[in-house]
Amino acid sequence: MKRYGVMLIGCGHIGMTHLCDIYFRDNVKIIATVDSDIERAKDAAKKSGAASFGTDYRPFLDDPMIDVVIIATYTSSHLPILRDCLAKGKHVLCEKPIGTDLSNGKEFADEVRKAKTKVLVAHILRHNSSYIKLQKMISEGVIGDLRMIRMTQNHHTVDRKRFRNLLTDCSPILDCGVHYIDVAQWFTGSKIVEVSGIGTKIDERSVNCDYTVMNFKTESGCVGYFEAGWNPGVSSLNVKDFIGTKGRLTLTLAENRPSDREEGDLISLYKTETGEYITINNPSEYKDMYAQFTTLTDMIENDTDGDPTIDEVESAFRVACAAEEAIATGRVIRL
Ligand SMILES: NC(=O)c1ccc[n+]([C@@H]2O[C@H](COP(=O)([O-])OP(=O)(O)OC[C@H]3O[C@@H](n4cnc5c(N)ncnc54)[C@H](O)[C@@H]3O)[C@@H](O)[C@H]2O)c1
Repeated sequence: MKRYGVMLIGCGHIGMTHLCDIYFRDNVKIIATVDSDIERAKDAAKKSGAASFGTDYRPFLDDPMIDVVIIATYTSSHLPILRDCLAKGKHVLCEKPIGTDLSNGKEFADEVRKAKTKVLVAHILRHNSSYIKLQKMISEGVIGDLRMIRMTQNHHTVDRKRFRNLLTDCSPILDCGVHYIDVAQWFTGSKIVEVSGIGTKIDERSVNCDYTVMNFKTESGCVGYFEAGWNPGVSSLNVKDFIGTKGRLTLTLAENRPSDREEGDLISLYKTETGEYITINNPSEYKDMYAQFTTLTDMIENDTDGDPTIDEVESAFRVACAAEEAIATGRVIRL
């Protein structure tokens, strides 16, 4: 079995989520951990058994022991770090989103397409077993034709510093929206062709809107909305509803279940014709970082495409940029 040498760049919230789920695996050896905050880099090295840590990733790119680099820094740094990694022949697992605007997002996608090594963009919901199950049920016609999607992903942001930093690069409709826009396109098997939206700054010091909501329509005729707010005043009471001509599927994550969390996520199926409710317990890890990492190793070993592919990643990103534009201008954007 190939053992992959890994460097993690960015040892904050999501960087540590990656690390904690992969460092103990048989096919992984963490070689170096890097963060502009040296204490974070040091703690991550201690936790994962990495021999090296530092504040600058560049010297480590010459280390032949490092096969894979995980980029978990702020969005504005994803493209320059990706370029440095590809120039040194490293495979990359990079956090979403791929850019802060249409132009640098396109540059990112173009770099990936011409790369000699493999790059996977971290759309974690593609690796979540409940989302995989929902997609399968919808594609099998369990709720008929998918006509309406309701998705909210608000954060009650007690960690204000972290979210202020994220809001410096983009609004939640771009940062978080790329996940759920991708879900909408994945579940409908169709592309979003129209978006509109509204937003506001609940915290006036925020660089970008900290509350955003978009409406969308797909080529297949499904309509929907996605809402994302990052503010301590917002509650994180979230909804994931998928409504078709024959019924509805609702996902409640284990942590949000009123009871029986031990059973995993709750998928509820309502059948319109019979009025029947079917409940399915689905053991699932919300952010299955090792499944995602395994997708990258499969890409490397079997020359497979990513999940999502870079075309799917770029498509979701373009829709998210259009939603930001719709919110800024008040216009309906047709794609
Ligand atoms: N996939 C997901 O579910 C998910 C969840 C949260 C965040 N994210 C994405 O991950 C990225 C990071 O978000 P976060 O919430 O972990 O932020 P965070 O603030 O918790 O962590 C970012 C870390 O990167 C470090 N850093 C920034 N620039 C650096 C550089 N050039 N070199 C070295 N270290 C650097 C910071 O010091 C910080 O420790 C963002 O792009 C965000 O959109 C993805």
